[in-house]
Order: sequence, then C-alpha cells, then structure tokens
Amino acid sequence: MLAIRLVTGPERPATLVLPVRPEGPDPSAALVPTASPPADDVRSEATALLPVARLTGAAGEVREHLRPGGTPSRLVLLGVGAGDEQDWRTAGAALARAGKDETHITVALPADAAAALRGLVEGLLLGSYRFRMTGAGGAPALAEVDVVVSDPDALTPILVAARTTAEMTRLARDLTNTPSSTKNPQWFATQVAAAAADHPDLHLRVREPEELATEGFGGILAVGGGSASGPRLVELDWRPADARTHVVLVGKGITFDTGGISIKPVPAMKLMRKDMAGAAAVVAATLGAAAMRLPVRITTLAPLAENMVSGSAFRPGDIVRHYGGLTSETTNSDAEGRLVLADAMAYAVQELKPDLLVDLATLTGANAVALGKRHGALYSENDELAADLLAAIEAAGERAWRMPLAADYLEYLGSEIADLHSSPARGAGSVVAALFLREFTGDLRDRWVHVDMSAPSWSEDEHAELTKGATGWGVRGLLRWLATLG
Ligand code: BES
Ligand code: MN
Ligand code: ZN
Repeated sequence: MLAIRLVTGPERPATLVLPVRPEGPDPSAALVPTASPPADDVRSEATALLPVARLTGAAGEVREHLRPGGTPSRLVLLGVGAGDEQDWRTAGAALARAGKDETHITVALPADAAAALRGLVEGLLLGSYRFRMTGAGGAPALAEVDVVVSDPDALTPILVAARTTAEMTRLARDLTNTPSSTKNPQWFATQVAAAAADHPDLHLRVREPEELATEGFGGILAVGGGSASGPRLVELDWRPADARTHVVLVGKGITFDTGGISIKPVPAMKLMRKDMAGAAAVVAATLGAAAMRLPVRITTLAPLAENMVSGSAFRPGDIVRHYGGLTSETTNSDAEGRLVLADAMAYAVQELKPDLLVDLATLTGANAVALGKRHGALYSENDELAADLLAAIEAAGERAWRMPLAADYLEYLGSEIADLHSSPARGAGSVVAALFLREFTGDLRDRWVHVDMSAPSWSEDEHAELTKGATGWGVRGLLRWLATLG
C-alpha cells in the first residue's frame, strides 16, 4: 500500500502537486496558498498555466505540466473545490488515479491542513484500491507520497487516523469482494481471527453449529442449514480499561444469498457474494477502534451463514425459534438476513446488555428503490442517537438518510402460528424489515440504530474515493462515531 509521510519542504521534488480552487466570475481557477510556498518561478508559471489549462478548480480536476530540465520537472495542478475534507478526499482519489504512472509525488497543503490531510490521505488510499485474486491487471505504480505541511508532529495523529480508517475500509472491501467459493462462514471467521491476532486486547469467540444449537440460535441455524459450509457466530470484543460506554455492533454476514428455496432469479443473484458487507464493516470498524485504542467498549457480532438451496435447507412455512424464545413464521426464505440478525440482537440485549446497539445489513433491495444507489437507510427511535450517527457518516464522506419506523405496517408482522411473521409481502420493504428487527431490541428499543446498507455497499463505477465493486460502506462512519463516544 501507498506510503505517505509528512515533510516540511519538498525533498524529492520531481513531481510537485499544487492545489487550485475556483475563483472569479467565469469558471476559472486560482492557486491555493500553501504552507510552504512554491519558488517564485514555479508559482508564476503555474499561475500563467491556469487559464490555458482551462481548469475550473473543481474537486478532482488534475492537469499535469512537464517542465524539461526544471525543478520540479513535473507540475500537477489539482482541483480541490471549496477545500473541505470531502473535496480533498475526491482530489486525493483523482490524484491516485492520475498519478498511476508516477512512483513518487510531493503534495503541498494549505497552512490550515487538518481537514485537507485527512481527506487527501483517505482519498489516496481508497482511490488506489484494487481487488485482484491473481495479481492480474497490476496495482498502480504510485508508491510514495510526501505531504508538505508546517507542523508534521502536530498532524501525525490525523495521518494515523486517516490511514487506519482507509486500511480498515480496504479490509472490508477485500472481504466483500472475495468470491463465495472462498468466502464461507468458516473462512470469514478465520480472517477475523488473523486480523485480531495483532491486538492482544481483542477477544474473539467463534461459535460453531453445535454451540449455536445448544444455546438456541435458531435463526442462524435455519438460514445456514442448507449449506455444506455450516454457520458461525463471530463475537469480537474490544474492551479498553478506560471505557465508560459499551456499544454492540451487529453485521449481517450472509456469505452468499441464493434466496434459498425461494430462489432468486439470475440477475438478482449475480452480486449476492456481497451479502456480508454489514459483517465486514462492523468487524473492520472494531479492528480500527482497537488499532486507534478508542476508549469505548465494542462487542461486535457477525452472524455468518450461507443461504443455499438443498435438501437440508429451511422451507417457506417453517417456524423459527430465535435466541431467547421468540418465534417467527417465514414464508420466503429470501428474507434470511433479518432471521440471523434477530438472533444476534436478542443475544446482545439479553446477555451483553450494552448501552447502545447498532446493526448494519444489506437487508433489502427496497433500500435502493427508496433512496438510490449511494444512501443507506437509517432507522432509530432515538432522535439524538440518529442525528449523531448521521453526522458522523456525513463527516466521514459516506451517506445515509433517516427513514420512519412507520406503525402503519406493524399489523403485517402478525402471524397466526408464531409470535411474528418475518416476510410479509406487503408494505415498504426496508421499513417492514426494520420493524421486524425492532421486535428483538427489548430494553434497548430506544437505544438502537438499524442501517439498511444494501445500496451503498457496492458501486457500479469509479466515483471519487469509491472504486468499482465493494465500497466498505460503514467503516468510515462507524469509526467517526465511535471516536465521539467514551
Ligand atoms: N440480500 C438481500 C437484499 C439485497 C438485494 C441486497 C439487492 C443487495 C441488493 C436480502 O436477503 C433479500 O433477499 N431481501 C428481500 C426481502 C424480501 C424477500 C422480503 C428483498 O429485498 O427482495
Ligand atoms: Mn435474501
Ligand atoms: Zn440477503
């Protein structure tokens, strides 16, 4: 991965990157003043270049200018828009793409560098992400970026936070992009164990099918029953001595979703290896919190199962007995996510008794119908908690939109033969799923947030810091939010 260091002046100035922003009435750009100003000749040349290069200064614009025999020998003008953190994230990603043939570049930052640095570093590391199983296609050549600031020591914590955030987002992307022939529940649990091994203060427990049966995790067992690769429940605990708040994170971990006996049609099944993006995000966020030693206790639960079609699969019409005893009637085996989440949430509420409960899940196709392709659907009965989480998600450069837990659909959750009906065919899909989950929150009903993140978990195209494929959605927002607790 790209090495990034903070310096007080250009040390290897072959390629110097200068930020530019929109200025003036016409679409035209001006240089952004930097902590370490470029030499006079470079500055006047860059200024003369701006109108000729037809730059507007919009975030993500990149123009390279060759200066044979000069120092620097290449000048890159980089649009940073209004210069906020997200603009710099966009610019950093554009630079990583444009600089793919460079091996070493130097970027000059404005004097007030904190937000710029955070955005630049995350953009560089996320925009240069590539997922390859074989090494085919090759990684970008860009290997080292020097960032020129006035006070490297003061800014080091920001560099570290940005790097950890990006590394963990990349881990979530890797897990989510991995094909399901590799990624079964056991494999996922092994990956968590390997990543957690670096931190002596992280405790991991992985329940296998026998223990799940003994303890009554009926939802996880039902959904995982059709697969040759048995289900697991990952419980990862970050327990710093100075924690005052205990958060439980739950992430949906369906390593492949065929729909089960209620099998999905071909186009709907194509991307179902991503159906564990929630589990990947909560695990990666917890590892990030441990790496940054955030003073908040986090227990992360990832119920892992493969929803397959086979002679041992659960059937429409089956009654599932969830952890703690609530039963649900299931008439569509494709509504499997809520069944595994219900078990994990009931366990959290009854056994772990945290202060706050947050779950992330690629739960419904209706998420994208309601909100489009980049917004998660956020549900909570707690206005303050919802606002805090939304603010953190936004600050981190992700997007979510609050949705109502509308009582209008509650009647659809009624069943004549069980406590609940898990897959009513009526109502707004994402809302009904959230209402079902709420039944398992017990005492934590008003300290719970659910995010349906099916839509933003995947990107069809390159877009700012997003690359094609898994986005790692949720890692950045969760880490921001966790850093405010404690
Ligand atoms: N994993 C899917 C949801 C999904 C769909 C995620 C598209 C990402 C993209 C989930 O398990 C599912 O199948 N949900 C059903 C629910 C229905 C059966 C009540 C859906 O959304 O159609
Ligand atoms: Mn499904
Ligand atoms: Zn699913």
